[in-house]
Amino acid sequence: MPDITDELPRLAPIMQNLLKENVLVGPTLTNVAVMEITQEYQNLINQEAQKLVHTYWTTELFSHPFIQPYFQKVVATNAMIDAITSTAAFYAHLRLGQEGLDESMIFVASKLLETSMQRYTPKNIFWLAFIVNAYDDYQAIQYYQPMLATDFVSGSFHRPWSIYRLEEEFKLILDYGAAEWVTHTSDMSIRLTQRGEKHLYKFRQFLEATGFLEKRAQLNRFAGFGQMQDYDDVMNTLTNTQELRSLVLTNAKLKPGMHVLELGCGTGALTLEGGLVNQVGSHGLVTAIDPSVGMLNRSLQKLKSYPESSVKFVQATAEELPFENNTFDAAIGCLFLHFTNIQVTLKEIHRVCKPGAWFTTVYGLQFPQTEPFMTEWLTPIYENNETLRNSTTDQLPSEDTVREIIDTLDETYDQVQIYPVEMIGNTFHIDKTIEFWFRAAHIFEPFMRNLPWKAQQDLIENLTNRGYQIQNKYGKEGMIQHHPGQFLQARVIKV
Ligand SMILES: C[S@@+](CC[C@H](N)C(=O)[O-])C[C@H]1O[C@@H](n2cnc3c(N)ncnc32)[C@H](O)[C@@H]1O
Repeated sequence: MPDITDELPRLAPIMQNLLKENVLVGPTLTNVAVMEITQEYQNLINQEAQKLVHTYWTTELFSHPFIQPYFQKVVATNAMIDAITSTAAFYAHLRLGQEGLDESMIFVASKLLETSMQRYTPKNIFWLAFIVNAYDDYQAIQYYQPMLATDFVSGSFHRPWSIYRLEEEFKLILDYGAAEWVTHTSDMSIRLTQRGEKHLYKFRQFLEATGFLEKRAQLNRFAGFGQMQDYDDVMNTLTNTQELRSLVLTNAKLKPGMHVLELGCGTGALTLEGGLVNQVGSHGLVTAIDPSVGMLNRSLQKLKSYPESSVKFVQATAEELPFENNTFDAAIGCLFLHFTNIQVTLKEIHRVCKPGAWFTTVYGLQFPQTEPFMTEWLTPIYENNETLRNSTTDQLPSEDTVREIIDTLDETYDQVQIYPVEMIGNTFHIDKTIEFWFRAAHIFEPFMRNLPWKAQQDLIENLTNRGYQIQNKYGKEGMIQHHPGQFLQARVIKV
């Protein structure tokens, strides 16, 4: 039987390009952005998906009958519906900072998909859109197996953002031999076959290697920070972030008149009320970047109370700075570096800074924590989780990782100073802590990414309940979290 996984090596570079172009960027983004899509927009998305399929889908497209001919088209339409929805959600939420979709975003998304079909061929786009959904499907079956057919078809456990029922996917998975009926139970339930297990493994590998899972995680983080309405209040009252901001600012060697780059500026707490703009004065300039439009919008709101400040807020990630080489006299940032690909970020900062510019920052280091209350609280995450415990991908960096990266930078930075700082969190406020860890910072993402949507929500609820039990046991004083962090300062050198 022809195997879809044989296509993966050929599809990998196309997937990478799509991710760069922000097409097909990850359905779970819809989880935060568009859980409620009005009937009117559902119809419109449907209509646009049908149009794409009508124009670009032909039965010959998939000459080997891996998909049964009679529902090929429906599955393709469904994949297009999700591709349009998630791409539209990306533009609405992460480019425009809007809570939900609107008509124009749906048209933009549909147009982008069409352009991608022309650029990379319709067949490849249909494949990729299909794989993204199949990954979530297979993962859910594996996690819940035996999974009730009705639960699969309603999608409520693993793709609640889908605006259609998953009957066709269900038939396809069974026909294709990726799942089978479980015969020893009286319920109508299914489980993965060996073939299904193999495919899930290969899909996961593919989505990891192409950066899809990483990008999806990142986007959820940007959206999550953007949605955290009480960010300033939580950080200022429950943590020592204000202290850390002043530590960075007082050591940053800034002078009036400088053009300073601030990275991960968030709500402008360091930029504006934290005093960064005052340090550069009216002849200087602060260019402050953050990828989260929700956060930047709050900075812009605040800026109205600082009419004299020379500051420019720009949406960007630290890994891809939209500035010319040698633009800045200094770079600064508070609690952002640990959310980035540190090596890439340090190279970008080096590129956009002038020789002799200082970069100064503080950031958090990896869990697990040694405090008994933390270990006890987070047991459901760490038990049986060697991968998470040892992994350094996308969670906070370990001290060793940072050291190794710094060691590779001796051609680009000198006078490196690195020392421990303590980040303190008052985790007694359970709901706020959980909101920050799971909905904004997504600190445990490497673990969460392997769970279907509903299992993630259940785990968060479980941890919230555990939090209240821990609170009773340890009390306010016993729940102060001492989180390891580092201060880093280095000077840009260019030969
Ligand atoms: C904990 S907040 C810190 C915000 C601010 N510096 C402060 O002191 O309050 C982390 C910020 O990093 C931003 N961030 C996440 N990933 C980033 C990336 N790849 N590049 C730049 N900023 C990023 C988030 O959007 C968020 O605003």
